[in-house]
Amino acid sequence: MNICRTKKQLKLAVKQAASQGKSIGFVPTMGYLHDGHASLLRAAREENDVVVLSIFVNPMQFGPNEDLERYPRDEERDLALAASCSTDIVFLPTVEEMYPSKPLTSITVRSVTERLCGASRPGHFDGVGLVVSKLFHLVQPDRAYFGMKDAQQVAVIEQMVLDLDMNVEIVPCPIVREPDGLALSSRNVYLSPAHRTEAAVLSQSLGELAQALNVSSSMTGAQCVALITNKIKETSGEIDYVELLEYPSLRTVAMHIPLDRVLSGQRFIVALAVKFGSTRLIDNALFHVE
Ligand code: PAJ
Repeated sequence: MNICRTKKQLKLAVKQAASQGKSIGFVPTMGYLHDGHASLLRAAREENDVVVLSIFVNPMQFGPNEDLERYPRDEERDLALAASCSTDIVFLPTVEEMYPSKPLTSITVRSVTERLCGASRPGHFDGVGLVVSKLFHLVQPDRAYFGMKDAQQVAVIEQMVLDLDMNVEIVPCPIVREPDGLALSSRNVYLSPAHRTEAAVLSQSLGELAQALNVSSSMTGAQCVALITNKIKETSGEIDYVELLEYPSLRTVAMHIPLDRVLSGQRFIVALAVKFGSTRLIDNALFHVE
């Protein structure tokens, strides 16, 4: 496994692969890797000749009162997991390497960033857009793998790639979950044992909604949101948002009309962000209206 700490080392490694006509699959991460990240690496391994992983906790996507300082890090463990997934190249830059000077360019994807985490974390997706486009320029991947755990991030990156004619295929990958349904996240380590038990309510409420929608897709958006909200309110979780939106446009949906009338033939997402203690967790499910 080739560990690159500078852009120069990375570009050389990528150039070598490209000159041999090899396809490149890329998995961008912020490290503290878990099986969700591993699933992206495995997908990349199956579909490409060379797999590149980046590990970089990107300060530009954290707000002033967010958890940048305490974001978990464990380089040694990350490298072991990367190696176990047959990763070829790992890019591990410092903040100074990535941002030698304060960037004056910003990437703002409008509309899809107006709600959900875009609304509750102002500037977050500008930071994501900037770092991902820098990484795409450095790695020049044929395919890049993103988890649907961050469904809004996928929608933002797909729109950015479309708008800027970036020559990369975005491959969305399914959410990997714990046995009780909790979506794997680097931040789960911060949950107290009591909160960890309660946090299963996120996926469980989404599962109950899926069942209810199976019985009747004539539920309204408001009824769907109420079902989830009521379940979460049985716990100590503090709701940041529970929203039902069109996907991938993330436009609002008329909330008091049956979904099979407003969204016929379309996809929608139910997305939630809930705080347990100081740990903010997100989850979502996609549905298709017949
Ligand atoms: P990070 O939170 O480390 O996530 C890296 C990738 O792993 C993202 O595409 C994310 O959706 C995916 N992922 C995380 N948990 C997952 C799970 N339980 N199942 C499936 N995939 C999962 O997302 C970021 O980093 C950053 O915003 C980044 C894109 C690297 C830009 O800084």
